[in-house]
Amino acid sequence: MSKFEWKYAAAPEASNHAKIDARYGLFINGKFVNPLSKKYYSTHNPATGQKLSEIAEAGEKDVNSAVAAARQAYEKVWKKMPAKERAKYIFRIARVIQERSRELAVIESMNGGKPIRESRDFDVPTAANHFFYYAGWADKLDYAFPNKKPKSLGVAAQIIPWNFPLLMAAWKIAPALATGNTVVLKPAETTPLTALKLAEIIRDCDLPPGVVNIITGFGNTGAAMVNHPDVNKIAFTGSTDVGKIIQKSIAGTDKKLTLELGGKAANIIFDDAPINQAVEGVINGIFFNQGHVCCAGSRLFVQENIAEEVIQKLKARMQTLIVGDPLDKNTDIGAINSREQLDKINYYLKVGKEEGLEIYQPNCKLPANGFYCKPTLFIGAAQSNRVVQEEIFGPVLTIQTFRTIEEVIEKANNIPYGLSAGVWTDKGSKIFNLTTKLRAGVVWANTYNKFDPSSPFGGYKESGFGREGGLHGLMPYLNL
Ligand code: NAI
Ligand code: MG
Repeated sequence: MSKFEWKYAAAPEASNHAKIDARYGLFINGKFVNPLSKKYYSTHNPATGQKLSEIAEAGEKDVNSAVAAARQAYEKVWKKMPAKERAKYIFRIARVIQERSRELAVIESMNGGKPIRESRDFDVPTAANHFFYYAGWADKLDYAFPNKKPKSLGVAAQIIPWNFPLLMAAWKIAPALATGNTVVLKPAETTPLTALKLAEIIRDCDLPPGVVNIITGFGNTGAAMVNHPDVNKIAFTGSTDVGKIIQKSIAGTDKKLTLELGGKAANIIFDDAPINQAVEGVINGIFFNQGHVCCAGSRLFVQENIAEEVIQKLKARMQTLIVGDPLDKNTDIGAINSREQLDKINYYLKVGKEEGLEIYQPNCKLPANGFYCKPTLFIGAAQSNRVVQEEIFGPVLTIQTFRTIEEVIEKANNIPYGLSAGVWTDKGSKIFNLTTKLRAGVVWANTYNKFDPSSPFGGYKESGFGREGGLHGLMPYLNL
């Protein structure tokens, strides 16, 4: 273990410029309105426990009024608008996200717990990029799908999780608008604030009222959106359990559905890989965003003859990771999103220990308040361990070894999920061999967690179906 303990002076990002209202209504038909349910709940900063705002809890009547606004905007305005005019609005949203990026990044970190470095350098710019990218497609759908007469579907109900609140909103809204659909979107209950900020941006961009409606609430609100008879398309990102409920509840209707669910990605290091680079990639792959990432590289496979070296280097690197205040620019690992999620991670830490695995955590100090978890390795894991098979969604990495390519392919695929994977090797032929044999929607080679609006993302098996991003991401919103 390294004797160095790097001390950095605190480098907090200012948060006094971030404008958070004491209370938010529902964004329906172009303005914020009080919920008909008359119900509100509090949203907090998971790093401090501080209450940030009161959020409306949309009931069934509120869902009805949001869907009605989206329907009216679709029939009367959006469907008829020339595509190049639609594109201008989408471009405008992208530009205003850029203009307000600092405030959005700070609020994302305050409400979600992720390090400011990530919300500033990844979430917010990537969200803007998605709007830019899909704005460009809006008037080129006939070129994207020649002779297919692409037609919009109508009203899209979109339900998103708490791990990338603004970015997931962009992933959902941008392609829906570009293809001429209108939207009712619900952010996750713990992270509503940047979606509500996006509602303000959409309002300030003069998007015709009702084209985008953003409503807040819990699972019941989401279920009311899914079951609403006037919804044509459902896009969901979240847990596999809720994905299955949604799939059942729309069986027999003609609603279109895309699901982006859990993951348990394999990150595979061969003995010919550039080891230091691979170690850094593995660290990024699992500890990025506290492991709250569906495509997190949560299962490490190391070729047996280099296992000792890799594990020793991982431990040394983990000892230097800074866990703490999400608003500090030096922080590597921020706060766990909620008490519920921290309880789930702690439960799996117990399970791994009971399964007899060797556990490693650096001896860093966690802040006294808020929800935090040390980065963790489970060494000597086996295929049958629950910590290997089940999604933990936290900064926890299992380590298995392998001898041959065939063995690692079989182990990597032997899991209910298939969202993503990573391969580290110096040999191009091994990369091509694995990209065709790993049952995963995305396979990164000698890198990890790289995203671009032009490349499609999505899963196999219980990780869901349908693609988001790229030209493929237009299809779920069109009749072809
Ligand atoms: P969740 O699936 O319950 O929540 C995701 C979204 O679905 C939220 O907006 C929620 O309000 C909504 N929702 C909940 N129940 C619903 C229903 N019956 N009908 C319609 N919408 C509903 O996920 P949760 O409980 O926040 O996290 C549980 C686990 O799911 C995590 O520990 C993690 O393993 C996994 N997860 C995976 C994500 C991914 O990106 N694939 C994102 C978030 C969680
Ligand atoms: Mg849930």
